[in-house]
Amino acid sequence: MPSTSSDWRSSVAYQIYPRSFADSNGDGIGDIPGITAHLDHLQALGIEIVWLSPVYDSPNDDNGYDIRDYRSIMKEFGTMADFDAMLAGMRQRGIRLMMDLVVNHTSDEHAWFQQARSSRDNPYHDYYIWRDPVEGREPTNWEAAFNGSAWTFNEATGEYYLHMFSKKQPDLNWENPKVRQEVYDLMHFWLKKGVGGFRMDVINMISKPWQTTANATQASLPDAPKVQEGFLQPAFEMVTHGPRFMSFMREMRREVLDHYDCITVGEAPCATIAQAQEITDPQTGALNMVFQFEHMEVDSQPGKSKWDLKPLHLPDLKTSLSRWQTGLHGQGWNSLYWCNHDQPRAVSRFGDEGPYRVRSAKLLATCLHMMQGTPFIYQGEELGMTNVKWPHIDQYQDIETRNMFQVAVVQKKQHPERVMQSIHAKGRDNARTPMQWSSAPQAGFTTGQPWLAVHDNYTEVNAAQARDDDHSIFHHYRQLIALRKKWPVMVSGNFELLLPKHASLFAYTRRLGDVCLLVLCNFSNQFQGLPLKQLPDFSQAQALIGNLPVEEWPLAPDTLAAWEARVYVLA
Ligand code: NOJ
Repeated sequence: MPSTSSDWRSSVAYQIYPRSFADSNGDGIGDIPGITAHLDHLQALGIEIVWLSPVYDSPNDDNGYDIRDYRSIMKEFGTMADFDAMLAGMRQRGIRLMMDLVVNHTSDEHAWFQQARSSRDNPYHDYYIWRDPVEGREPTNWEAAFNGSAWTFNEATGEYYLHMFSKKQPDLNWENPKVRQEVYDLMHFWLKKGVGGFRMDVINMISKPWQTTANATQASLPDAPKVQEGFLQPAFEMVTHGPRFMSFMREMRREVLDHYDCITVGEAPCATIAQAQEITDPQTGALNMVFQFEHMEVDSQPGKSKWDLKPLHLPDLKTSLSRWQTGLHGQGWNSLYWCNHDQPRAVSRFGDEGPYRVRSAKLLATCLHMMQGTPFIYQGEELGMTNVKWPHIDQYQDIETRNMFQVAVVQKKQHPERVMQSIHAKGRDNARTPMQWSSAPQAGFTTGQPWLAVHDNYTEVNAAQARDDDHSIFHHYRQLIALRKKWPVMVSGNFELLLPKHASLFAYTRRLGDVCLLVLCNFSNQFQGLPLKQLPDFSQAQALIGNLPVEEWPLAPDTLAAWEARVYVLA
């Protein structure tokens, strides 16, 4: 395994989105000294791994996921000395820093691309993916993730270049061994500095589906199947887990990962369980875990985009999560998450952001942390931060959201109000509003004007309040993290889903040797009677943790209150 330490299996990770975490100098943009100043918050929670979203120099077309220089720090975020101080602060607290490795693409302002686009015989030309026009237009029908074609024409060479995201994010050509060597070199650079590993952005997209591998850089690329009106078609599935993906990953492991004690998680859109097993297999795989997306799709219409909303049907969520639990048990390792910087806030999406906000946020935490895998908490999740519902598209900053609005309303003539509903439910800015530290102006995030508005519930929902209240969501997370250290069954036990078809109850067991945990969660605003005959006998069981006072459980042994979660240790 790339990591010689098994700590990450019993550790909990925390994701920091630096632009929105804490601003130290009043420019309205979160920065590295801001992170350093708040490390005690993470330590108090019991965090042992931080995934830091990109802090490299970037023109910010996609908030840092478009990198101009992999070896320098974004000016708005600080300096390399600030970075070193933050890293030292984390190491002192026993926190390992996982950097974001974004190497499916660079910024179009990266020096490699500037060279590459200048002429066909420039030595850097082959660092990217180029094709001649086909019948005067784009070489394939692939649609980019942020709308429009995945190909943009480059006047100087008379060719198109490929970009699966924005046109300012050209895809690197991993077939070129020099590109791979550049990536390995920059990984060594950060690992030698003492970082603890990498979260790898859309890593399963690095090998494209060449129709011949003999001369991959010239070979033609297949069209994506037609599933929607018009020329452009979604193409993500065309480029994930491509023919040479695993060989690239094994090379990366040999060249880099095997030489360090590091933790890795690969972002893997469209990944199947079989693919995740292959990637995370402890002997023959390459990474410790993947971020898979199946459970992020349960509230959109099958085969359509994430914006095509569908009400959540709890059995779909349970089926998906439990398939991954059993599929990777003993075969690989799961990451566990409800939320990140690309997803809406967990409590608004899967819980109740109204009267049961606190209780349902604790339920979500309990339900996820009791599963097998490494939990990732996204900043503010431990406070129960919620989605925003801003009325105007101009209030949003995210490139994905703005482009989608433009295409839906201007080109496809959809009703703006309906499109705003999708943005309220799924827009990425929901997760990117500034971290709510206190009830001070701008939630204590900045003394200036924040780059994105602060949620107006900050006087009620903030870290200062949460740390002072023993019954807060924050302290519930802290307890769950501490339990993981004490109960090996949470780490290694096998998983069995109970009541798979029940519309409101999410129930399962974890079993290791003689120890069995029973997890009962009521995902609804009504109390639920428990179908006792279909559950293991818990009449003699010990209470482990719940989101209502444990002393009150015996008063209602066969019902769960609205959004109640309980964990029993079976005798
Ligand atoms: C996945 C990242 O999480 C997302 O924020 C980004 O826009 C794309 N990859 C492109 O890098």
